[in-house]
Amino acid sequence: MSFSSRKPGPRFEPRPRLTDAFINSVNEATNLEDLVSESVDLRRGGTTVMGKCPFHNDSTASLSVSAEKGFFNCFGCGAGGNAVKWAQLTYGLTFPKAVELLAERASIPFPHSGTTPNPIPRPAPVVKARPTDKQVLPAVPAENLYQVTRIAADAYISALARAPEAIAYLESRGISPDIARRYVIGFAPDEFGFLKTAFGDYAKNPDLIAAGLSKEKVTPDRTTRWDFFRKRIIFGVRDKEGRPIAFGGRVLPGDEGPKYLNTPETGIFHKGEVVYGLYEAISAIRGAQRACVVEGYMDVLSLAAKGVKNAVASMGTALTEIQIEQILAHTKDVLFIMDGDAAGRKAMLRALFLVIPYAAANRFQFLLLPDYLDPDEYVRAHGPAVFREDHHLGIGEALSKLLAELVEGADEPGRRSLLQRAARVIEKLDPSNPLAVDLSARVKRIGALTALPLPHQPSPPTAKPVATPAIPSAGERLLHAAMRLPDEAIRARVTVRSVFAVGAGPDMVEREFLARLDAAIAAGKAVPMQCSEQERRSYARVLEASSAIAGEIRRSREAAAAARQLARGEISDSAFLAARTRE
Ligand code: UTP
Ligand code: MN
Repeated sequence: MSFSSRKPGPRFEPRPRLTDAFINSVNEATNLEDLVSESVDLRRGGTTVMGKCPFHNDSTASLSVSAEKGFFNCFGCGAGGNAVKWAQLTYGLTFPKAVELLAERASIPFPHSGTTPNPIPRPAPVVKARPTDKQVLPAVPAENLYQVTRIAADAYISALARAPEAIAYLESRGISPDIARRYVIGFAPDEFGFLKTAFGDYAKNPDLIAAGLSKEKVTPDRTTRWDFFRKRIIFGVRDKEGRPIAFGGRVLPGDEGPKYLNTPETGIFHKGEVVYGLYEAISAIRGAQRACVVEGYMDVLSLAAKGVKNAVASMGTALTEIQIEQILAHTKDVLFIMDGDAAGRKAMLRALFLVIPYAAANRFQFLLLPDYLDPDEYVRAHGPAVFREDHHLGIGEALSKLLAELVEGADEPGRRSLLQRAARVIEKLDPSNPLAVDLSARVKRIGALTALPLPHQPSPPTAKPVATPAIPSAGERLLHAAMRLPDEAIRARVTVRSVFAVGAGPDMVEREFLARLDAAIAAGKAVPMQCSEQERRSYARVLEASSAIAGEIRRSREAAAAARQLARGEISDSAFLAARTRE
């Protein structure tokens, strides 16, 4: 397919401004029972109307709908909400699209960004980049931006054929000409005015500046313009209709400068609202009934090159709600694949927090790659293992793992804020939903673990100074282990407790630690935690080591006590020897 043969896309629609009042009026004007019954058989039983929930594999009628309250709720999977939410989930729409659909259905004129409610005919919209942009870009009609971006894409694509260095690099990453065509990959030559070849009016066309394709410097005598992308591999970013709207330009290996330059925010490109590769991946996502979300352009491309064609990426920033909703419009099943390094883990927890509110009606899984392997290398090493579900963590397991790790590495205020953030997102779920119950139990468990005073923390001023107990230095790990293996932990507790019993009696820190250990054991018993065989073994080793260390401490304390008694003549030599060798 070549871009020049493409039919012009549909008319550009300005982004509507949706007020709460408008959204409320749309919800109120919709009879939810009527709306739901368009896709679900509903039966009235007394005061409630029930049907089979379409959002999970429902064998009984778990979905209840109240036209009066304007709410639906599934007792099985926890999906619930108002009419707009129903339309989003059922028709795979973004929030504004769902509002638009319902407004149309209820014959409420949809507010277009003009001042009049629905101006017909509409003037060609003039769009500006968002005010947050560093640079003020000229306001030009969106049509012009689409047009120049398409022409530039064609020029970059043709230039790639004449750029052996770029082709060699793409080949080295496994990217075939086929993938390059599919994904609008091109090359910006090492020239300041390459785009002159595509635009006869290069020097004067304001659209080129507005589209972020060229930059200019204006002085009283003259205006100088140059291309923004130079000597870079160009990755075209397309919108939902397949129109190129922006570019990412990657340096060639060995060259200086940032790894990527990206088109700035323009009238047609808002990076938090575009999912890279989604247009290209839609049929694969529908086919696999799953989308993979990865971190970067190259991840999407190299996965596609290896046959994993349902991968998409955010635009080098944290995933946004708008982006996840676009993905969920095509599938309810999303696998996040991120690097196992610290940045990847952080990004994954952020994505996890973002999707929790959607988790009742969808399925999210998480694959943390082994340290310093990106998805490309991972697939190269493991073949299609990306699809082996046994490597994936469910949302609960991923939350426990990532949150516990980050919390463990954070200082006290950091811990508190992480735990609070987690609790707050979970509150967005219906509290009676089993997922909400499970997730908040997990957060509480991590909270209980980390309430343990850190070994390096000063004791509270009122406490008598105490020697740092030997156990808490390994305490965190012991507590983690106790949650996973509560029965084994009960056995280890006997030895641990006996250490604290020696001498004048357990001091405050020791008592507190025992209380935490008991809480961890109780929590682990109440909600058993899944762990792999490998994790099981390593936690068992922690418990074994803790009780071995406690045993050592007890023996050495007893030996020291016996030595003092011997010195004071309180015991005989033979009693001392017996104490020293006592098991
Ligand atoms: P990566 O550094 O992982 O890039 O950044 P990559 O696409 O996987 O490339 P390779 O594998 O190292 O060649 C992930 C994403 O972050 C954004 C891009 O969207 C990139 O794809 N990014 C990264 C930038 O926008 N600018 C940068 O300088 C770096
Ligand atoms: Mn990468």
